Amino acid sequence: MNLSFMYKEKPFISNSTMATWMTLSLQDSSSPMMEQLIFFHDHTLLILTTIVALVSYLMGSLFFNTNINRNLLESQTIEMIWTITPAIILFFIAVPSLRLLYLMDEINNPAITLKTVGHQWYWSYEYSDFSNIEFDTYMIPLNEMEDSSFRLLDVDNRIVLPMNTHIRMIVTAADVLHSWTIPSMGVKVDATPGRLNQMGMLINRPGLFYGQCSEICGANHSFMPIVMESVKTNTFISWISHLSEAS
Ligand code: CUA
Repeated sequence: MNLSFMYKEKPFISNSTMATWMTLSLQDSSSPMMEQLIFFHDHTLLILTTIVALVSYLMGSLFFNTNINRNLLESQTIEMIWTITPAIILFFIAVPSLRLLYLMDEINNPAITLKTVGHQWYWSYEYSDFSNIEFDTYMIPLNEMEDSSFRLLDVDNRIVLPMNTHIRMIVTAADVLHSWTIPSMGVKVDATPGRLNQMGMLINRPGLFYGQCSEICGANHSFMPIVMESVKTNTFISWISHLSEAS
């Protein structure tokens, strides 16, 4: 049984988001939260680059300094400056960082809820708002791959979610620690046995989004990937009603 709907035959590669060998930075964002995280990353990297350049220059010039000025014993002024300046710089990193931290924790009146349970070694999903819709997703093994499959990344049953909708994701585990993530959406939550973790998601474009279990969970840790299909609301409704009739 294949539950995937839109891109059953050929994945829509131009719209899909995954890490490839050319990905040296973050993946393109597929949610407003990830967009903000990328802005924050670039902001921090710019500050970091400036500091590294300045410190390298100072260390370089210190290396060639012969220290022959006998009047240079102390300077309260310069010590005040190089104590306060880093504090101000840290402030400009800490404030946007905390803003994002609390923004990511917020859940805005979600329209639907998706629950996932991590197992050794597959994910199972439950669409709690609908009756009796639950399924497992396993990685497609090498010998069953099609020409369009992504090795170690594609699954047999993709989860389908509507875009431009507030979604509540509920994450837990049945055996050991796992971690559910989709990097392009900026979400990652530990799946912990005996604990329900929740997070809010909002997808802002259609496509296929890939993730992998992100907590060392045993022998097949690398082989329990996550694939999400982001579709229009109408497409999602027909997909879920199709599933309801089947069950
Ligand atoms: Cu499940 Cu790593």
